[in-house]
Amino acid sequence: MRVAVTGATGLVGGQVARAALDAGHEVVAITRSGTGATLALGDRRVARVTAALTDRAGLRRALDGCDGLLHCAAVYAFGPEHEEQVRGVNVAGTRAILEAAADVGTARAVVTTSSVTRGSSREPLARSEHDLLGDEPAPAYYESKVAQEEAALEVGSRRGIEVVLALPTLVLGGPYRRLGPSNAIVLRYLLDPTRSTFAGGGNLVDARDVGAGHVLLLDSGTPGQRYLLGGDNLSWRAVHSLVADLTGLPGPYAEVPAGVASALAATDEWWSRLTARPALSTREEAATIGRHYWYASDRAADLGYAARPARATVAAAVGWLAVSPDLPRWLRESLRLHPDVRAARELVPAPLPELGEPPEPGDGSAAAAVRPRPRRPPPRSPRRPQTR
Ligand SMILES: NC(=O)c1ccc[n+]([C@@H]2O[C@H](COP(=O)([O-])OP(=O)(O)OC[C@H]3O[C@@H](n4cnc5c(N)ncnc54)[C@H](OP(=O)(O)O)[C@@H]3O)[C@@H](O)[C@H]2O)c1
Repeated sequence: MRVAVTGATGLVGGQVARAALDAGHEVVAITRSGTGATLALGDRRVARVTAALTDRAGLRRALDGCDGLLHCAAVYAFGPEHEEQVRGVNVAGTRAILEAAADVGTARAVVTTSSVTRGSSREPLARSEHDLLGDEPAPAYYESKVAQEEAALEVGSRRGIEVVLALPTLVLGGPYRRLGPSNAIVLRYLLDPTRSTFAGGGNLVDARDVGAGHVLLLDSGTPGQRYLLGGDNLSWRAVHSLVADLTGLPGPYAEVPAGVASALAATDEWWSRLTARPALSTREEAATIGRHYWYASDRAADLGYAARPARATVAAAVGWLAVSPDLPRWLRESLRLHPDVRAARELVPAPLPELGEPPEPGDGSAAAAVRPRPRRPPPRSPRRPQTR
């Protein structure tokens, strides 16, 4: 099948495009920028057509001859400065590309939304496709994904395209070009000198499993249905314990209350505006502390979907972060990576060349700087827990 993939320069779309290639599909990447006729995905290349999500004529040209569409492009970001873009791109962009797909006769589309449209629980209970986002903290991003689902199903039924909704949970791993909020959860712990954690929990899934899940849904998902694509459900303390164990760092210690996390996030947002770097935490995310973003992927599992365990997922995320410029050199050099990190992925000089960009000078030093985990005796006295 000839399939178009949007968002192939991103974390999810990149793995979706790879999985489509693995399944034997011919892939056309629709990107908003870039001039080359092809896009590199690691050591493979796919055809590339450049078209903005607002340019219906351009999208029609890009989709011409495609039997399927995997629409993964979206703004995945939190914080007040992203609100307008989040609403515009995630909803209007989805409408525009599905209308264009209908114009040229593309029969089937998988649209990437998110598990957050199924809400969260105070209790540690897994939610399913039947649940809804309720009366709970809902950042603009969450609302945009709910509206995106409605828009996708509406265009699908009005224009006669088979639309299947893919709802990934918290996607970790790589390669990535821009640090997103999901991998930032792991990075935040590495950077936090107090090694604190918080109440509640999340469902973690590896980007490779989400990629394969999308292709499965393209082949055999029921039109009009939602499919959660997740992995293991863990408390945040368990997630942070995994990060600590895989990197040789101590903790986690005390739980940060939501109010304190919100104050720290406000400082982070202010600093990010000053430095023009993405904020590692936002007040919108801090407001979700204490809730369980736990989900069951039984519906997708019935089609054959499977995800690797959380430890392997976090190990891969650590592996990608370890070779990324997001991890400061001093911290990278202090990590004692568990062999599971190396087993989770081959450490390459840097993720950027895998995305078709020329390597940055000095990229090769990153991998060299990741040290094997030396054996060391257990500490004589445990470190005192600290609070922020
Ligand atoms: N990561 C997660 O934990 C997670 C969880 C659940 C659902 N999702 C969903 O997965 C999808 C992809 O997320 P991601 O994590 O892969 O994010 P990402 O790494 O930031 O990638 C976003 C992709 O969308 C493209 N894009 C952004 N704005 C665009 C615009 N205005 N026009 C055209 N393309 C645009 C980006 O292109 P450029 O490279 O040009 O910027 C990039 O290819 C989103 O629908 C997101 O809601 C993600």
